[in-house]
Amino acid sequence: MPSRSVGRSVVRKEGRGKVTGAARYIDDLTFPGLIHARTIRSTIPAGEIVDVAFGFDTSGFTLVDYRDIPGRNIVALIDDDQPCLAERLVRHVAEPILLLAHADREALLAADVRIRYREAVPTYDATTSPIAFKTIAIDKGRIDQGFREADVIVEGEYRTGHQEQLYIEPNGVIAVPEHGGVTVYGSMQCPYYVHRALKVLLDLPDDKVRVVQTETGGGFGGKEEYPSMIAGHAALVAIKAQRPVKLVYDRVEDMLATTKRHPAVIRHRTGVKRDGTLTAIDIDAVIDGGAYATLSAVVLSRGVIHATGPYRCDHIRIRGRATMTNTPPNGAFRGFGAPQTQFAAEVHMDRIAEALGIDPVRIREINALRPGDRTATGQRLGRDCSALAVLRETVKRTDFKRKWRAYARLKASRCLKASRYKEGGSRGIGLSLFFHGAGFTGGGEVKLASKASLALTDRGARILVASTEIGQGTRTMHAQIVADTLGVPYDCVDVNAADTGQVPDSGPTVASRTCMVVGRILQRCAEDMRERLGRLTPREYLKRHGPLVITREYERPTDMAWDDNSYRGDAYGTYGWACDVAEIEVDRETWEVKPIAFTTVHEIGKAIHPVLALGQIEGGSAQGLGYALLEEVVMRDGRMANAQLTNYIIPTTLDTPPIDVVILENPYKHGPFGAKGVGEMPIDGPAPAAINALRNAGFDLREIPATPERVMVSEKQEPRHALHA
Ligand code: MOS
Repeated sequence: MPSRSVGRSVVRKEGRGKVTGAARYIDDLTFPGLIHARTIRSTIPAGEIVDVAFGFDTSGFTLVDYRDIPGRNIVALIDDDQPCLAERLVRHVAEPILLLAHADREALLAADVRIRYREAVPTYDATTSPIAFKTIAIDKGRIDQGFREADVIVEGEYRTGHQEQLYIEPNGVIAVPEHGGVTVYGSMQCPYYVHRALKVLLDLPDDKVRVVQTETGGGFGGKEEYPSMIAGHAALVAIKAQRPVKLVYDRVEDMLATTKRHPAVIRHRTGVKRDGTLTAIDIDAVIDGGAYATLSAVVLSRGVIHATGPYRCDHIRIRGRATMTNTPPNGAFRGFGAPQTQFAAEVHMDRIAEALGIDPVRIREINALRPGDRTATGQRLGRDCSALAVLRETVKRTDFKRKWRAYARLKASRCLKASRYKEGGSRGIGLSLFFHGAGFTGGGEVKLASKASLALTDRGARILVASTEIGQGTRTMHAQIVADTLGVPYDCVDVNAADTGQVPDSGPTVASRTCMVVGRILQRCAEDMRERLGRLTPREYLKRHGPLVITREYERPTDMAWDDNSYRGDAYGTYGWACDVAEIEVDRETWEVKPIAFTTVHEIGKAIHPVLALGQIEGGSAQGLGYALLEEVVMRDGRMANAQLTNYIIPTTLDTPPIDVVILENPYKHGPFGAKGVGEMPIDGPAPAAINALRNAGFDLREIPATPERVMVSEKQEPRHALHA
C-alpha cells in the first residue's frame, strides 16, 4: 500500500487553533453559576493538625474538608497511601487540608484560615530514610566472579537534583455537578486515571463520572498523576456547592505543591579489564520519593532497568530503593528515573576511561550493546539495537576525537601558565550514549489492556482514543498512521476529544507509548476496517451496512516474556538508542557554564512526522541541558524556596546552543510503520554529555545541576602537579 502521509510533516491537527488563539484552555472556559476554589495547605513538613480557625465571615463560602468525602479519602493510584485532604497527620509542606470556594475571587484570596499544628521531626535525607516505598533487585551472572576477573575497580557516587516540569500552563480543572454525578474538564495527560480516582473518592459508578481533557499546555509527566488530586478537590466542592467550580493554580502554587523529578544518589562500583572490557557492574540507586508513594515504584523500576546504560556485562548487581522524605511527593517527569541513572552511568563511564587511559569513544565501542547481547534483565536484543550506529554517527559528525584531545591539551597547558586563566573561558567536549525503553515496563502493557477505536465516517475515519494531545503531536501522528493504513488522505481522518464519555481507555499518555503502543492498536483497527470496506468507499459502506466502529485491544508480541518476581525478561518491547555530544565553555569569572554546541543522533525506528519528532528531540535536549546546568530546586525546611520563574532558572533561547539533530531509522517490527518511542529519550543524555564536557575542560563534577558554586570548587588540581614534576 502506498504510504501517503507517514514520513511527511503534514499540518498539525491542533495547530490552527493554537496559532490563531481559538484553542480554549481551562482558564478560558466558564460555566453559568461558576464559583472559584482555593486550596488551604499545610505550612509545616511533618506533624499533626491541632485545630482550624476561620478569621473571616464564612457565610457565602463553601468549605470542604475530609469529612465531606463520600468515598475513600485517597488519591487512587498504586499504593493508595496519599489522602486527598489531610485528616490529622501532615507529611509535607503544601499538603492540601481544606478547600474554600466563593463566587468572588478576591473574597476567596482574602479569606484567612489559621491552622495550629503539633510539629514532628521531619526526614529529608533519602539515603538514610527508614521508610522505603519500594525496593528492587536485579541480578545477572555472579558479581563476585566479575570482580575477580577485573584488573581495575572504579567507584563513584553521583547525585541529581529535583527538576520542575514547568509546562507552560499550570494545573487546572473545572468540575460540574450533573446527572447525579460529576463531569471534570481539565489540563491533563491521563483522563482515565482521573476517572478512576474520582470514582474511588466520590463512591460513584463508572457512568456518573466523566472526564474531559481540555487543550493542554504541556505535561512532561507533571500532569500524569497530579490532575487526579486537583480534580478530586474541585469535584468535592462542586458536589457540596452544587455549582460548577474552577480550580486553577498560579505558577507559585503549582511549583510549591505539585510533583517534581525524584532526586537520586547513585553509587557505582565497576570491574574492568585493562583493555576496557567491563567485567562487573555493581549499582546502588536511591531515589527520593517525597512524602507519598505516588509513582515512585515505577519510576524506580525504569531507573534501575536503565542503570547500567547501554552496555553489555555478564555480571551485574543492581539494588534500587525509593524512600520517603517530608517533601512534596515526587512523581512522573519525562524519562521517569532513566535520566538520573543514566547520568550516573555515563559520567562514571568517562571516569573508567580516564582510569584506564582510554578515550571516551573507545570505552563505549568496546562495551556497547549489540544485537544478540543480553541486558541487565536478561533481555536478548534483536536487530533493532543501534547503540554502535548512533555512537559512530555522532562521533563522525562532531569530529569528537580530535576536539576532545585538543581541549584536553589546552587544559594541561592552562595549568602550566596561570596567567592564561584570564584569557577567556575553558572549553570542553563531552559525549553520552544512552537508550530508552518504550511503553510500560515488564508486564505493564498487558495489565493496562489498552483499547482504541476507529469509527467509519463519510470521508474516512474518526479516531477514538484516550491518548491526549499535550503539545507533542498525538492527534497528528495517530491520524497519519490511520490514514495510510486505511488508504485515505490525512485530512479525511479526524480525532475525537479525549472524553471518557466517548472514548475507550487507551491507557495513560506517558512512557513514550502513545505512538508505538496506542498507534499500533489503531493501526490494527485501520487494517480491519480496510478489510471490511473491501472495494467500497466509506460513504458506500455506510449507506449499505450502517455505522462501523472497530475496537481493538493491546496484544503482547508473542516473542516477549517478563517475570515480575525475578525481574528477568523483556523489560520493554524495544529500545530507542541515542548519542549526544555537548561542547561547553566555562566563564572563569562567574563560573557559569555555557553550552556552545550540541549534537544528538537518535534512532527511533521510524519518524512518523519528522518535524514533530525533531521537536521532541530538540525540546528534550534543551530541557536536559537545563537539568544539567541551570535548574535547581532549593528545598529549605521541606519547602521549595525558589518557587517562581525569577529564580528557578530554565534555559531560554539565549541559553540554548544550536542543536543539531540527526534521526536514524531502524524499524521495530511491532511498531506502527516500524516506529519506537521518542518522547522521553532526548532528556536522558544531555546532562552526562555536559558534565563529561566539563571533565574534558578540567572540572570533576559528580552532581547536577552544575551551578557556578559547584563548578568553581570542582576544578581538578592534579594535572598541574603532574606537569610540574
Ligand atoms: Mo511520563 S514521565 O511517563 O508522563
